[in-house]
Amino acid sequence: MFHIAIFGCGVVGSGVADILLDKQEYISRRFNTELRLTKIVDIRKMDGTPYAEYITSDKNDVLGDDKIKLVTVTVGGLDMAADICRDALRAGKHVVTSNKAVVAEYGRELTLLAYENNVRFMYEASAGGGIPIIRPLNICMSANDIYEIQGILNGTTNYMLTGMYKNKVSFDAVLKEAQHLGYAEADPSADVDGYDAARKIAILSSIAYHAFVDYRRVKCVGIRDVTYADHELAASGGYLIKLIAGSRISDDGLRISVEPKLVHKTHMLSSVSSVYNAVLVRGSYIGDAMFYGQGAGKLATASAILGDIIEVLEAPERQSLPDFISNTACIADRSHDRERFYVRLTVPFNDNESDELLRNIKDVFGGSVVYLGYALSDDSTVAFISEKRTENEIEDLLALLRARTYIEASYTMRVAE
Ligand code: HSE
Repeated sequence: MFHIAIFGCGVVGSGVADILLDKQEYISRRFNTELRLTKIVDIRKMDGTPYAEYITSDKNDVLGDDKIKLVTVTVGGLDMAADICRDALRAGKHVVTSNKAVVAEYGRELTLLAYENNVRFMYEASAGGGIPIIRPLNICMSANDIYEIQGILNGTTNYMLTGMYKNKVSFDAVLKEAQHLGYAEADPSADVDGYDAARKIAILSSIAYHAFVDYRRVKCVGIRDVTYADHELAASGGYLIKLIAGSRISDDGLRISVEPKLVHKTHMLSSVSSVYNAVLVRGSYIGDAMFYGQGAGKLATASAILGDIIEVLEAPERQSLPDFISNTACIADRSHDRERFYVRLTVPFNDNESDELLRNIKDVFGGSVVYLGYALSDDSTVAFISEKRTENEIEDLLALLRARTYIEASYTMRVAE
């Protein structure tokens, strides 16, 4: 009998309980091992729910119970959740978690601890929610040299960017709506400033490139400064604006960032809207592989946890240590990279001068800029897309344009290739 306990009966934990209660007979038959939900650790009593008969508030009821072979850690926050993982691993129990903060911060330590205790530490649900992506990277695509990942890894910001464009609203208005619907937290910073996506791309990159990526090294730009006018102007050139979490291997190291980018409508990520997530993986043999689905939510995330539970059922023995335990990624300096930039200018509106402005933009930035014109929703906003330039070149050219026209650039974004 393979007994399982759940730490934390919140949204995801209760989803794990629901699926286990629904499917444990089937899974037991299918995988030839009797599987049982045995306990749920939570300080709430959950009276009147299907979880009540499993509830205990004492973690030692689980940690001290040798029958329990695996625990899921579906507790939020960082240190308490990490301590539960450590205690469970030391007690010889497999740990499956959806907590990306714990995985990004302590993933190396916990993987090593699991190895030392002959158990497994699994975290498919920590990036991409219900989308199977960690197992494909670890196993299915592991013969490939993976050289690039581009993802939409945060459902809240994708919902907000989609809603801003569709409903012609401001960042503040769409944030309020996302908070009302329960997607964004009261303090929305982890989502809207890109930190959540930074942790997820760091986790995926550590696995894909066999070298640990510290999420603190991910260059992170959020979506607070994106306006409806940006969406409108981008769309006029055939682009959508998406928060892209990307990493790419090159000779001088790993380029990794989270930032809003213009994504052309022919790009594979452009059709990923609302709360959906997607991950585009580029590998030496597979070429492009795209993974798409629900990046958050009770049952989708719990589904990924069940995938890990089943993997442990199938292979409970200690696995070899992943390369990211001993290798650390070298992060490259992107400042010399040439990329195309979307440039938003704030201008005093004067129709008679718009030809002159365009002439000045072309004089300074070169004839092949893509001029997007004035925003219909805001006649003080003009935008264009530059040729491939470095960050410094863009800054120098903007200074030149300012000297000629007294017009300030108010915002720039990279264009996804
Ligand atoms: N806040 C996260 C998101 C939840 O919006 O994607 C899932 O990790």
